[in-house]
Amino acid sequence: MPSSQLPSIATFQRAVKLLKQGKLVVIPTETVYGLAADAFNPQALKKIFALKKRPYFDPLILHISDESQLKLMVQKIPPSAKKLIKAFWPGPLTLVLPAKENVPTIARANLPTVAVRMPQHPVAKHLLKQFGKPLAAPSANRFGRISPTSSQAVKKEFGIHTPLILEGGECLLGLESTIVHFLKNKPEILRLGSITMEQIENVLKQPVSLRKKTVLKQPLASGQLPQHYAPKKPLTLLPFHWRQKPPSFKKSDALLLFRKPLPYFPGQQIILSPQGSLQAAARKLYHSLRKLDESKARHLYAEIFPSRYLGITINDRLQKAAHN
Ligand code: TXA
Ligand code: MG
Repeated sequence: MPSSQLPSIATFQRAVKLLKQGKLVVIPTETVYGLAADAFNPQALKKIFALKKRPYFDPLILHISDESQLKLMVQKIPPSAKKLIKAFWPGPLTLVLPAKENVPTIARANLPTVAVRMPQHPVAKHLLKQFGKPLAAPSANRFGRISPTSSQAVKKEFGIHTPLILEGGECLLGLESTIVHFLKNKPEILRLGSITMEQIENVLKQPVSLRKKTVLKQPLASGQLPQHYAPKKPLTLLPFHWRQKPPSFKKSDALLLFRKPLPYFPGQQIILSPQGSLQAAARKLYHSLRKLDESKARHLYAEIFPSRYLGITINDRLQKAAHN
C-alpha cells in the first residue's frame, strides 16, 4: 500500500497508549486483521474474548517482534522449531511450544503450551516495536465467523464497538497462519494456513502429520471445530467434477468459483482467479465470501479446489464454512 496511507506517527502513539491502558487495537497482518491487546494483561485479554464472543477454551496467538521475546515465554525450542523459525519468521507461521509460567493462563486457555508468531506486515512490526512487548491477537471477527482481510470488514464485524484500527490495506495472503505444535519434538500441523504442508516438509526434510480431529475434550485449535470461518447464509460445496452434472441453480443462488465462470448462470458469480493462481484465490477468498454473504443471494455455492498446495487450505476453510 502507498506509504501515504500508512498510519501516522501520532496514530501509532495513540495505539501504544491504548494498549498500555489495557484497551484493544485492531492491527493488520499479512494473513488477516487481528484484535490486539497486551499479552501480559489478563484484564485486557478478557476484552478480546468479550468483543469476539469467544469461549475461554480457545487460546490466543501471541505476536512478537523479535526472538528474544520468544525466549521469555517458552521453556524450550525444539531443533525442528528452530529450523521453521529460520525459514518462515517473520511470516505466517505459528508455533505452539511449552509455556513459561509467566504467560497468563487466559492467553493459553490453561494449556501448558503457548502459541507464538512473528508477523511480517510492516504496520504490525512497527507497532510491536513501539509497544515493546508481545501482543495477543486473534482474528478480528466474531467467534466462528469469516476472518477479516480489510479494515472495512473489521468495521462491519464490530460496528460502533470497533476499537482503533491501524490501517494496513488489504491483507497480502488472506488466510490465517499455519499452526505447528511439537509433541515430544515431533512436529504436527494443528491448522493448515498460508504456509503449505509441502513447504514445512521441505524445510524439515521429513513428513509432517496433519491433525484431522481432536481427541481432546477441548479442541487444540478452534479451526478444528467442525463449523468455523462461516458465512450467515447456507453454503453448499460443489464437488470437484460438478460441471459434468451441475445442479439446477436458481437466480437467487450465488457461486464462488476458482478460475472459470459458469456460462448462462442467471445469478451472481465471483471468479477468484481467472489465471488459476492459488495465491490470488486465497487472497480473495474471505473477501468474496463476505461479499456474497452481504449480497441479495439466498444460497451460496462454492467449488472445491484442486487438492494441492494452498488448495488444501482453501478446501479446509470451505468445508468448515459449509458445515451447517
Ligand atoms: O494468521 C493468524 O494466525 C491470525 C493473525 C491475526 O495473526 N490470528 C488468528 O488467530 O488466526 P485465531 O485466534 O483466530 O486463531 C488462533 C488459533 C486458535 O484456533 C487457537 O485455538 C490456536 O490458535 N491456539 C492458540 N494457542 C494454542 C495452544 N496453546 N495450543 C493449540 N492451539 C492453540
Ligand atoms: Mg479466528
